[in-house]
Amino acid sequence: MIRIRTMTAADVPLGMRLREQAGFNQTETDWRRFLDLEPEGCFVAELDGEPVGTVTNCVFDSVGWIAMLLVDQRVRGRGIGTRLTEHALAYLAARGVRTARLDATPRGRPVYEKLGFTAEYELARVEGSPEGGGPHGAVSPIAADQLDVVVELDREVTGTNRRRLIERLYREKPEAMHVFLASDRIAGYLTFRDGFHATQIGPGVALSDEAGRALGDVAIERCAGQTVFVDVPTDNGPALDWTESRGLVVQRRFTRMRRGEPVVDHPSQLWAGSGPEKG
Ligand SMILES: CC(C)(COP(=O)(O)OP(=O)(O)OC[C@H]1O[C@@H](n2cnc3c(N)ncnc32)[C@H](O)[C@@H]1OP(=O)(O)O)[C@@H](O)C(=O)NCCC(=O)NCCS
Repeated sequence: MIRIRTMTAADVPLGMRLREQAGFNQTETDWRRFLDLEPEGCFVAELDGEPVGTVTNCVFDSVGWIAMLLVDQRVRGRGIGTRLTEHALAYLAARGVRTARLDATPRGRPVYEKLGFTAEYELARVEGSPEGGGPHGAVSPIAADQLDVVVELDREVTGTNRRRLIERLYREKPEAMHVFLASDRIAGYLTFRDGFHATQIGPGVALSDEAGRALGDVAIERCAGQTVFVDVPTDNGPALDWTESRGLVVQRRFTRMRRGEPVVDHPSQLWAGSGPEKG
């Protein structure tokens, strides 16, 4: 019998075990962030009393992000992933969300399509130990009083008020978040965080190619000697060109999918997704 229950901090080892099986990049810190941001909205599936699956939600006003759909490989193909996704959708509906979004792996996509999700665009995950990079006169570490402007810029580009996420990432690693200033106005930001296999660069948006490249170059200088992942919308040609010029190669692709009302976003200005968890 399949039963779905709320996930708690005691389930983080389960999350880490399933993440390992799937080759995902999240750390325990990532799982704790999912739980802190949505304490009632992360779920575990039990099969005959044994925990075998997870899913997380994150509500940003009228938009809800579904992530971390993981089912133990021993029990896949029995409808557990579908049940978890249905549960996530019911949670989002109860929270008044009008659009559910997610970044699907090729394995996840058919599950979501059967539940009415449609594809919006593709993201390429590029990886490698970047070459080049360096400081730029217009890029500086963010100051706390610039956070509101960054949240607003991110909202304009993503069509989503991700204040809770951006503030949380800033609190976790303030020194990683940088802004690009053009004529005293913030025209981009970018941050990075630790991952299990590689440092995840993102989220980050840029209103010009110069801002995107400069922010990216500062981030890779800060991550010198590390393997990095960057999730780039394939509609953002200049960002992909920049990653290629820095020696990063495409490792996998995600499909951004939606169920419900369209969200007006601008993937050509999204230089780095936050990782598949929250756009
Ligand atoms: C994606 C994933 C979560 C799916 O979990 P799952 O429990 O196998 O999903 P389901 O069983 O609901 O659906 C998988 C397939 O089984 C079929 N199925 C559903 N209910 C079934 C049942 N009762 N009996 C047999 N098959 C069933 C589904 O139709 C689906 O078939 P399809 O592949 O032809 O579309 C799992 O493969 C996984 O953890 N993958 C690695 C991590 C990953 O990629 N996660 C997705 C992130 S976006």
